[in-house]
Amino acid sequence: MSVVDLRGAQDFTANPYPFYAKMRAEGPVHAIRTDDIEHAWLIVGYEEARAALADQRFSKDWRTAEHWAASENPINANMLEMDAPHHTRLRRLVAGEFTARRIEALRPRVEEITGRLLDAMVPAGRADLVDAFAFPLPMTVICELIGVPDLDRDAFRHLSNAIVAPVARDAEEKAVHAMGDYLDELIADKRRSPGEDLMSALIQARDEQGDRLSSDELVGMAFLLLVAGHETTVNLISNGVRALLDHPDQLALLRARPELLDGAVEEMLRYEGPVETATFRFAREPVTIGSQVIPAGDAVLVALGSGNRDADRYPDPDTFDIRREPRGHLAFGHGMHFCLGAPLARMEGRIAVRALLDRCPGLAPDPDGEEPDWLPGLLIRGVRRLPVRW
Ligand code: HEM
Repeated sequence: MSVVDLRGAQDFTANPYPFYAKMRAEGPVHAIRTDDIEHAWLIVGYEEARAALADQRFSKDWRTAEHWAASENPINANMLEMDAPHHTRLRRLVAGEFTARRIEALRPRVEEITGRLLDAMVPAGRADLVDAFAFPLPMTVICELIGVPDLDRDAFRHLSNAIVAPVARDAEEKAVHAMGDYLDELIADKRRSPGEDLMSALIQARDEQGDRLSSDELVGMAFLLLVAGHETTVNLISNGVRALLDHPDQLALLRARPELLDGAVEEMLRYEGPVETATFRFAREPVTIGSQVIPAGDAVLVALGSGNRDADRYPDPDTFDIRREPRGHLAFGHGMHFCLGAPLARMEGRIAVRALLDRCPGLAPDPDGEEPDWLPGLLIRGVRRLPVRW
C-alpha cells in the first residue's frame, strides 16, 4: 500500500484539484498522511464518496474507534459526531427550525442584514470582502436564529477558526477547551435571561426534561450550530465571488441573466465548495472500496471537493459553468448527516451574491491585494481575506 504524503504540501493547500485528479486516476481510495493526520483513508471518486457517506459500516462516533485520540470535551457531544439513535434524537430536536418553510420566513431579515452590511461597505470603494461581508452576514443570521445576538463575534471567530482550520495541534486543543468554557458561560447567561428563541427552548428541554438533552449535549449543539452556521457559508460567499471574478465571462452572464442565480450558487458549491472533506468516519468492520480493504477501526475522510470534480459524473469538471445545473453535488454531504442548514446556506448565498453584484457594478479583484492566504487543513476550503474593489 502506498501512502500519499501531504505533509507540508503548500501546493496542495493552494490548489488540491490536480492532486485529486491524479489520485482518482489511480483509484477511488488512498491512504494519506498530513501534517495533523497520522493515517487516514481518503475517498476521492464521486460514486464511492456518495456511497461511503450513506454507508452504515462507517461510524461517526470517534469513541467507537480504537486508535483514535479525540479530546474529551462537551463540544464533541454533538450530532455530527454521533450515530443513530443518539444522532436521530438530537437532530429531531432542532430539525423543525431549519425546514425550507421556516427558513423562507427569515428572508426579509437576511435581506435587511445584507443591505446594512453593504451600506457600510460600499462607500469605501474597496474592502476585504471576507471581513466586511462574507463573515458578518452568516454570523449575524445564525446568532439571531439561535438567540445569542450579543455574542462576541471576533472572539468566537478566533476560537472557531483554530478548531476547524488548525494551524497547530496544541493551539487546537487549547481552543477546544476555551470554546467549551465560553459556551458554558453563554448558556448560563441565556438561562438567566431566556427568550423566544432556539437556545432558550433547548435549555428548557434540558432543565425540564433532562432525559432529552444532557448538559454536554446542550454545549455540543450550541457549538455545532454556531460553527457550522458560519464557517461554511462565509466560504460559499467568498469562494463563489472569487470564482466569478476569475471567470469574467460567467460574471457577465450572471449580470445579464439574473435568473441564472440559483444554478450559479449550485455551481459555486460544486466547483469550490466550503467543505473540502467531510468530517471523520470510522470503519466498524473491514470495508472494501475498489480493490482496497479499509481495516476495522481506521479513519476515513470523504473528499467532497474531489467527488465534485470527478469527470465520470460532471463532464469537463474543472470548468466553472453557471449553466451546468450540477445535480447531486456533494457540497452538503449525503445520507443521515446531510447538512441541516442547507436551505439557510442556499438562501444566504443567493441573497448575498445578488445584492453584492447589484450594489457593486464594477466589482473586481483589488490589484494591490496580496496572494490568497488559504485556510490550512483538509476540512474547510477558503481564503482568509478577499481584497476587492468596485
Ligand atoms: C454553504 C454552507 C454550508 C455547507 C457547504 C455545509 C456543509 C455541510 C456538510 C458537508 C455536512 C456533513 C458533514 C459530514 O457528513 O461529515 C454538514 C452538516 C451539518 N451542517 Fe452544514 N453546511 C453549510 C451551512 C450550514 C449552516 C448555515 C448550518 C446552520 C445551522 C449548518 C448546520 C449543519 C449541521 C447541524 C450539520 C450536522 C448534521 C447532522 O449531523 O445530522 N450548515 N454541513
